[in-house]
Amino acid sequence: MNAVALWQRYQDWLYYHDGLEVYLDVSRMRFDDRFVEQMQPKFEKAFQDMAALEGGAIANPDEHRMVGHYWLRDPDLAPNEDLKQDIIQTIQDIESFTRKIHLGEIRPPQAEKFTDILSIGIGGSALGPQFVSQALAASPPMAIHFFDNTDPAGFDRVLSGLGDRLRSTLVLVISKSGGTPEPRNGMLEAQRAYQQQGLDFGRHAVAVTGYGSELDKLAKSQGWLTTFPMHDWVGGRTSELSAVGLLPAALQGTDIQAMLSGAKEMDVATRVPKIKENPAALLALSWYFAGNGKGEKDMVVLPYKDSLLLFSRYLQQLVMESLGKEKDLDGNVVHQGIAVYGNKGTTDQHAYVQQLREGVPNFFLTFIEVLHDRQGTSVASAIEVEPGVTSGDYLSGLLQGTRKAIYDNDRDSITVTIPEVTPRHVGALIALYERAVGLYGFLVNVNAYHQPGVEAGKKAAAVILELQRNVIQALKQESRPITIDALATKAGAPDEAEAVYKIIRHLAANDRGVKLHGSAGQPGRLTVSL
Ligand code: PA5
Repeated sequence: MNAVALWQRYQDWLYYHDGLEVYLDVSRMRFDDRFVEQMQPKFEKAFQDMAALEGGAIANPDEHRMVGHYWLRDPDLAPNEDLKQDIIQTIQDIESFTRKIHLGEIRPPQAEKFTDILSIGIGGSALGPQFVSQALAASPPMAIHFFDNTDPAGFDRVLSGLGDRLRSTLVLVISKSGGTPEPRNGMLEAQRAYQQQGLDFGRHAVAVTGYGSELDKLAKSQGWLTTFPMHDWVGGRTSELSAVGLLPAALQGTDIQAMLSGAKEMDVATRVPKIKENPAALLALSWYFAGNGKGEKDMVVLPYKDSLLLFSRYLQQLVMESLGKEKDLDGNVVHQGIAVYGNKGTTDQHAYVQQLREGVPNFFLTFIEVLHDRQGTSVASAIEVEPGVTSGDYLSGLLQGTRKAIYDNDRDSITVTIPEVTPRHVGALIALYERAVGLYGFLVNVNAYHQPGVEAGKKAAAVILELQRNVIQALKQESRPITIDALATKAGAPDEAEAVYKIIRHLAANDRGVKLHGSAGQPGRLTVSL
């Protein structure tokens, strides 16, 4: 297609949201109106399913739960008055708590004010807050730090960065289930660090969790500062606009009402039951086209703005945990999903874009473009890096150039353009992708709101830790070094010698009282003693 025809195609396949000034350009996906017509029946059903979901249907059948993240930004949509009041009250509580923290009305026992936040959570209880913090909190009133794993070295790095400021650090423990091991471990490690500095952890701690969870009970029994609810009808990866994301954002000085209103405006647009008039439907259509409805191509997300760096990682979870499913809603094995990866432009042009342009064509790109180069007054003071050209012109030119170069080499792309990175536009982006994922889930008939694979991983880890306890028990009864195979048998797991070996090697590497004898290169011949 020549440049003139492409210009026409751009105009034909451009969606523009007037209020939000958001553009969605799907002109570089090579579908046509026939494809839209072909997809029409599937979309009609998806729109109906989505309306039922918003109306309070049990849209997450495996967990027998409603799916209500849309109500968070428009409580009038909640299916009953109690839920509506709960949502409104939670937002008011977050705002009032934040005000008191910022004014020092709620203060740590040994400092004037809280200066820092330590946010402890994983998956949906971390990625949204991390993304939003990086996108919006350029100079926050309180600096935020994250425990988003169970890596002891990671804990130590954050804690040593905080040093004495632990005395003025507010801890948010975020876990919907209140029983996920990683945040539980993070909380225990943080608790110990407070004790070591002679600080009362409870006077620094806040829980965001489901009503009645273990964490909820602990927070109440230990007299923590307060708790905020995480409703069972909000999934982890769609929880950024619940207390999970709003509390850390508000504490960092982000306008959470603007985030909510941006999301609400986008929700109105993505509720329209017409493919070409609905930006989320256009995204879902594009994904379906690219991967033949089977995820045959990966989604590479490239935000051309440093502050949106974590958007790719946030979307990776939102898309892959939602859509990556073995079975469809009727129980058929389908192995669905779309692989998502990305970092940021133009950095990635000096990394893997070489392969995207010339290598295996197993992907489609999503460019995220931001029109304003700089926030605030510095716009006027932009220097020219070459006559008539600024750094921002380069960023824009490199985006356009990459889009063209990959299209010319038969690679498709989508471009989402926002005017600037504001709370309102971040809210809108979150809402756009939440809806696109939901619609795509309905198109391919999978439950986008459960995560059985994650549960399977948690169970498998619990089995290994139980084996570790049995192995140590068995070893205590040995007076002489014993082989790994013999130890596995004595621990009641004769077929698990490899797992036993890895447990022992890890214990030995960490001076946990276990010794390995022999050559590390021949694990089958090693012997073990205490
Ligand atoms: O999206 C999800 O549901 C998951 O990623 C969860 O957020 C994650 O497993 C953490 O769960 P929880 O908040 O219960 O600790």
